[in-house]
Amino acid sequence: VTELDNLPARPEPPASLDPEDWAAYRAALHGLVDACIDQLADAGAHPWRPVPAATREAADLTDVSEPGGTDALAVTLTERILPYHSGGVHPRFFGWVQGTGNAAALMADLVASTMNSNCGGRDHGAIYVERAVIDWCARCFGFPPEASGVLVTGTSQATVVALATARLRALGPDVRSKGMSGAPRLVLYASEGVHHALTKAAELIGIGSEAVRPIALDARTGGMCIERLRARVAEDREAGLLPFCVAGTAGSVDVGAFDPLAEIAAFCKAQRLWFHVDGAFGAWTRLAEQPWRSLTDGIEHADSLAVDFHKWMYVQYDCGLALIRDERAHRAAFAARPAYIALQDAGLGGGDPWFCDYGTDLSRGFRALKVWATLRAYGTQRLGAVITANCRLAAYMGRLVMAAPDLRLIQPVRSNVCCFTVERETPSADPCSLNTAIVNELQMSGEAVFSTTRIGGRTVIRAAITNHRTTPDDVEAAIAAVQDALRGT
Ligand SMILES: Cc1ncc(COP(=O)(O)O)c(C=O)c1O
Repeated sequence: VTELDNLPARPEPPASLDPEDWAAYRAALHGLVDACIDQLADAGAHPWRPVPAATREAADLTDVSEPGGTDALAVTLTERILPYHSGGVHPRFFGWVQGTGNAAALMADLVASTMNSNCGGRDHGAIYVERAVIDWCARCFGFPPEASGVLVTGTSQATVVALATARLRALGPDVRSKGMSGAPRLVLYASEGVHHALTKAAELIGIGSEAVRPIALDARTGGMCIERLRARVAEDREAGLLPFCVAGTAGSVDVGAFDPLAEIAAFCKAQRLWFHVDGAFGAWTRLAEQPWRSLTDGIEHADSLAVDFHKWMYVQYDCGLALIRDERAHRAAFAARPAYIALQDAGLGGGDPWFCDYGTDLSRGFRALKVWATLRAYGTQRLGAVITANCRLAAYMGRLVMAAPDLRLIQPVRSNVCCFTVERETPSADPCSLNTAIVNELQMSGEAVFSTTRIGGRTVIRAAITNHRTTPDDVEAAIAAVQDALRGT
């Protein structure tokens, strides 16, 4: 006799997690929505702030055995969680490459959360929205209408999806069952300064980070040197390795440089190599005015593209896209239909596509809605105008830096990234540590958020403007704050 045999024949209904008092819940949620709108409408008054002890205490989950209730939750969310964001919403936030989000996508998030759709597959509204977003992206980047795609957490995951598909194309479908043992050694090529996401993806698909060949840059363009690429591929073929992919970058993380995508595309076609593009943020210059729009010429020839909505399309985290020209290769790399998810002819279990066939996730949220809402609410012309404005502001920042006697521009501003260093005559002053100290000081004071990177062996101050709230006043104030901080050191 087991415990189960002693259970009553008909169990009690469960205590549902729905509110007991819907009116009270409605009031609490309305209050919370008001607090969210208040904070968003006054984003300039809410820079990143260090997390106070009260919030760290509120985050603690040591004792959650008893229900706290949604009324108390709404208060804690408003007072302890909401104010302590990561800063990207603020108009003087230029650190790393971080997005701002937007008000239309906030609406979508509320709806997506209410619907709680699982977008791994089946036939329901969210699937049609995601397909529409992917089709729009295919048109935007000049991919054929039959191209496939899948929304993922971000470019890091999209790169894994793209490279896994390229690997299948190179080694055949057996790679899924047999793995990499005994397979030829695959190598892939990317410009120096490629984002680490590519290296990680190479590790994850089993070819190893040493299979990523860094190709030197052309000093004139700041992008990949095609002659170096040609020489390295020939050398690897000679050594018995199997070159299979070239990854071009549209917007390098350090300086916002662009590889010559059209030239790489022609090279890949001639050499029968997969052409991948890391366009995490820079691909969106496709929506901008000239001269920025032309930076991505050639992207339409890519076999795969990894791109983020959460950076320069101003959509809330997290949301990226793997876009693949050859739907059949994409599906062959991921599709599997065990009996419990077999396709039905009709009903909820029918429909096509099932997005679980195009990536690693079976259960997936309704990420597409916030992208769809952004496109619907603002339209591509307005989004393109903001992207153009961000490029102009980065160029303006570059000009202010060049005009300042105590600052020096490190590289020409090519898109939305501006890197510079302080320059002081005092022999004892090490510019690397001064740059780091100034960036820290401005973050702590809430005046502006820059980040740092290493260029030419030196730690420099870096601004990447992917911010629809930034104005020329913000850029002037941020550069003035750097100079003030320098004077104070
Ligand atoms: C050029 C580039 N590639 C890839 C990534 C990684 O993207 P994600 O953070 O969305 O995974 C980034 C992030 O900044 C990037 O700038």
